[in-house]
Amino acid sequence: MPADLPDLLTCLVIGTGGREHALARALSLDPGVRAVHCAPGNPGIAAVATLHEVDPMDGEAVADLAESLLVDLVVIGPEAPLVAGVADLVRARGIAVFGPSGAAAQLEGSKAFAKEVMEAAGVPTAAAMVCSTPVEVQAALDAYGPPYVVKDDGLAAGKGVVVTLDRDVAVEHAAQCERVVIEEFLDGPEVSLFAICSWDPEVGATVYPLQPAQDFKRIHDGDEGPNTGGMGAYTPLPWAPADLVDEVLCDVLRPTVEEMAARDMPFTGLLYAGLALTSRGLRVVEFNARFGDPETQPLMALLDSPLSPLLMGAATGTLASVEPPRWKDGAAVAVVLASAGYPESSSKGDVIHGLVDAESLPDVHVIHAGTAMVERAVVTAGGRVLAVVGTGPSLADARDAAYEGVAAIEFEGAQHRTDIAARAAAGEV
Ligand code: AMP
Ligand code: GLY
Repeated sequence: MPADLPDLLTCLVIGTGGREHALARALSLDPGVRAVHCAPGNPGIAAVATLHEVDPMDGEAVADLAESLLVDLVVIGPEAPLVAGVADLVRARGIAVFGPSGAAAQLEGSKAFAKEVMEAAGVPTAAAMVCSTPVEVQAALDAYGPPYVVKDDGLAAGKGVVVTLDRDVAVEHAAQCERVVIEEFLDGPEVSLFAICSWDPEVGATVYPLQPAQDFKRIHDGDEGPNTGGMGAYTPLPWAPADLVDEVLCDVLRPTVEEMAARDMPFTGLLYAGLALTSRGLRVVEFNARFGDPETQPLMALLDSPLSPLLMGAATGTLASVEPPRWKDGAAVAVVLASAGYPESSSKGDVIHGLVDAESLPDVHVIHAGTAMVERAVVTAGGRVLAVVGTGPSLADARDAAYEGVAAIEFEGAQHRTDIAARAAAGEV
């Protein structure tokens, strides 16, 4: 930690979801952190941080709150405020922020921009066409053939992508979006690799990859049904090639961060590479400009280093002077409990039972995403409600712990996948 930073940090996490709970929890366990605040937060985060009201999209309000709390570091969790430039407004007040500028967050905010950067940087990704008219859409669908991959160009909370064999469904999705990216289908398992990135005009880029994780995007077991924000995740990946992280660092992360710096929009914060390990090699499926949800939940459970120096290092351009992240042995699995109707809709106000029982199990903790407190009861308040995290010496143990926690929890219409990390634990990926 550089000499001019305080010994003990006061941190403010912006957001309300599972990712923010996992980050706030990790900060609360960090001996270098004096106090954790979160806004707006949720009832789970209230156990590890002091909650405040704020509109995460209102950068001046976020900056005012940070100033009034004498915060040393603001961590912006979700993509929408990042893309809207909230980090820029807070940084303009002289406060350290973990999270990219609005310009750099376009790596997530526009799939067309991300494709352009990847092309310029020579980063391997699916061939793609940007389409704004029905004629262009038909031409692109003809060019790549089925399975069709049609992506809303803008932010869509994980639901902007349709992968289908049905051409009518592909055409219909394209018609609902102003601009779409249509691309070739990528086969092979998916990997989420996150990197903490810092940039300094003198030192250049520092990129610290985290441990690879895998996310389960579809709502139903066996990867059936529509895409969601993510129904579960685990780390590490016992089946991943040993040189995967180095390969992604060399072929994807560094070239992207360097290309962004060359465009005068240095990327600082968390660069999330969504990757497909295809039969023709590694390809980027997407970039996100923030921690992934729910991958952050198992990753934070296994992070052995204190989190705050990494985030503060990135926020202040001094990451190179911080030790790279270390990891605990063993594995972690997160299983998401979603509310009735998700992902098409969601259900609010269903009372959640069994949280205390789940939390009291060994090697289990419960992360809140869409919950609220009504008359001293914790109730559902969104699509993804909770993530139950289990840890253990092996993936099978971590999975058992997580599902024991899931079994303890009940609410009307609860949905979860039963196969999170199952194939990996059985050595079948
Ligand atoms: P994205 O929001 O771009 O990550 O897409 C969401 C999900 O759709 C990904 O995690 C993949 O499961 C799937 N997907 C996206 N692009 C492709 C592609 N080119 N080929 C196959 N599946 C894809
Ligand atoms: N886990 C997917 C996402 O955070 O976008």
